Amino acid sequence: METVLSGIRPTGHLHLGNYFGALRNFVKMQNDYNCYFFIADWHSLTTHPTPTDLHGNVKIILSEFLAAGIDPEKATLYIQSDIPEIAELYLLMNMNAYIGELERTASFKEKIRNQPDNVNAGLLTYPVLQTADIIIHRAHKVPVGKDQEQHLEMSRKFATRFNFMYKTEFFPLPEPFNFGQDLVKIPGLDGSGKMGKSENNGIFLAEDPASIRKKVMRAVTDSGPTEKNQKMSEPLQNLFTIMEAISEQDTIKFFKEKYDSCEIRYGDLKKQLAEDIIKFTAPFKEKIEAIYADNDYLRKVAKLGAEKARESASATLKEVRKLIGFKSF
Ligand code: TRP
Repeated sequence: METVLSGIRPTGHLHLGNYFGALRNFVKMQNDYNCYFFIADWHSLTTHPTPTDLHGNVKIILSEFLAAGIDPEKATLYIQSDIPEIAELYLLMNMNAYIGELERTASFKEKIRNQPDNVNAGLLTYPVLQTADIIIHRAHKVPVGKDQEQHLEMSRKFATRFNFMYKTEFFPLPEPFNFGQDLVKIPGLDGSGKMGKSENNGIFLAEDPASIRKKVMRAVTDSGPTEKNQKMSEPLQNLFTIMEAISEQDTIKFFKEKYDSCEIRYGDLKKQLAEDIIKFTAPFKEKIEAIYADNDYLRKVAKLGAEKARESASATLKEVRKLIGFKSF
């Protein structure tokens, strides 16, 4: 069985984009692959969260992953900082990562632009830590979005370099996992681009109905069709794309016909969309709240995940130490 691994930085609630773009497929993959899913809390330290926020955000993601259907018995679901082996592998991999290539990474250059007052070494070596995350379980496939493709390319480079240097094929080269047909990109409500955390254009799985209604009613549209069967503007197409993911076929057909005949009222479309989103997210919200309140369960899940992940991680590290030349007297 091939090994699939993916991580998410704990920086807030999961939104519909996370669900359709990743989580839903993680849940499906649990049966067909040896899956590792983890919360990248070390990675989130690059932006200096307060201790309260750090823990709170880990708890949110753990609860939301479980509520969305990640089964801790099937997949290995764990918190990065529970696995000290990753930190050791990160140290070792840093010796073969060159400053120049790290400085040229697109995400690093973007950070220099966006947070010039906090260009820390953790940001520079972020792709090395990400590599350690992946190769510690010798993962084959890494489901990530487009924005992570360069990081993954670097992971392949670092793994290749290690293999070459120690004349081994120990590390498989991790490939991006593309869901093909199953990948549904959810756009934001602000007219263009995809739903994202930092764009503040999203709807969370744990969001309350009143807030969902408010956000959807404020979504960007256009001034309405002036001709029959007119091509849709991007903001409007975006609302239909969300509808296609969550609404009944009849509903979508109804509003498409109204649009094509120029009889559509965007207010009605938005009201319907809001209610359909609420219907879709309500069961998630309920589960998230129940799990979030159950500390005993969360503790058990984290403990089980850490045990399983450390077993695999320590086996890798043992081999790596041997390959590098560490020997006991
Ligand atoms: N960098 C990823 C992101 O921001 C999160 C991440 C950390 C990750 N380690 C990983 C993703 C390993 C996949 C594999 O989305």
